[in-house]
Amino acid sequence: MLPPPWAVLAASVAAVLRLAHTYRPVIVVHGLFDSPGDLVTLQTYITQSHPGTNVTIIDLFDRTKSLMSLWSQVEGFKQAIYPIMENAANGVHMICYSQGGLICRGILSTMPAHNVHTLVSLSSPMLGQYGDTDYLKWLFPKYVKSNLYHVCYTQIGQRVSICNYWNDPHHHDLYLNTSNYLALLNNERMNPNASEWKKNFLRLQHLVLIGGPDDGVITPWQSSHFGFYNENETVVEMRRQLVYLKDLFGLKTLDARGAITIFKIPDVHHTDWHSNRTIFDQCIVKWLT
Ligand SMILES: *[C@@H]1O[C@H](CO)[C@@H](O)[C@H](O)[C@H]1NC(C)=O
Ligand SMILES: *[C@@H]1O[C@H](CO)[C@@H](O)[C@H](O)[C@H]1NC(C)=O
Ligand SMILES: *[C@@H]1O[C@H](CO)[C@@H](O)[C@H](O)[C@H]1NC(C)=O
Ligand SMILES: *[C@@H]1O[C@H](CO)[C@@H](O)[C@H](O)[C@H]1NC(C)=O
Ligand SMILES: *[C@@H]1O[C@H](CO)[C@@H](O)[C@H](O)[C@H]1NC(C)=O
Repeated sequence: MLPPPWAVLAASVAAVLRLAHTYRPVIVVHGLFDSPGDLVTLQTYITQSHPGTNVTIIDLFDRTKSLMSLWSQVEGFKQAIYPIMENAANGVHMICYSQGGLICRGILSTMPAHNVHTLVSLSSPMLGQYGDTDYLKWLFPKYVKSNLYHVCYTQIGQRVSICNYWNDPHHHDLYLNTSNYLALLNNERMNPNASEWKKNFLRLQHLVLIGGPDDGVITPWQSSHFGFYNENETVVEMRRQLVYLKDLFGLKTLDARGAITIFKIPDVHHTDWHSNRTIFDQCIVKWLT
């Protein structure tokens, strides 16, 4: 006896859907002083778990070029990313590491037709950085965190990526006046494009924030979860931050949709987030469909 026509139809539809199932392309944006070579382990994890995924680690602003201003990097990365998005009818995912997470926020907010489905942020200083690290000692040997504002909060300082997200809680007014990246992106300083940027940012379907207390570089480490110091260097969590409460750039709206997932993972040092297999298996792979 022949199967009824609806069964034949259902079976062919299922077959077509199986054939058409492909993983969304994944775009990876590296961090300060990195180059794509540092992230190949992550690429290997992705293609092992999800064979056939088109993974692109953008090869731009490598090594010391990663110190260039974040707006110039955003423009450069956009050029490289645009064709990948155009070829991806169902959208793309982005995995952005450390400073790269702030670059990805810049891309999301200023790209009107982006189709980023999920942004996975790996220990990115989302609300800025205020801490003495080896990078800082190397870059600005004469300065420590308490006086770096003299350099960073100037027009010349703002040409250096690190200063673009330097967030000195003891000089908040100066930060608001001179930070021409983070304060603008957060819409903490009047920005004529703010409502446009918010709309663009909210095209994002899901935001995954990964970070933890043993990071050792991002300071405070809670910045990876949109927390930050108040004027007394006490950490205030994301949902009590002004940028969140006033929904200045879309974070609260995104959260209200249930579109933010936060992973707080101990025992991972900053340079290990992208190559730690446990992190990949527990916090990353399930979003890359
Ligand atoms: C991956 O995507 C890029 C951009 O869409 C495309 O140029 C490239 O050919 C793709 N690679 C593979 C192996 O499909
Ligand atoms: C910030 O800018 C405003 C307006 O230009 C100015 O009145 C204020 O003194 C500035 N604050 C700091 C700390 O530079
Ligand atoms: C706002 O958008 C316009 C047009 O896209 C651009 O020329 C201008 O530089 C933007 N303003 C800021 C503060 O980025
Ligand atoms: C910071 O500490 C001072 C002195 O202890 C206190 O008066 C002030 O309220 C604190 N500020 C905040 C934002 O907690
Ligand atoms: C990898 O991550 C796990 C937590 O998920 C941690 O316990 C472990 O120490 C990490 N290993 C390395 C080499 O960072």
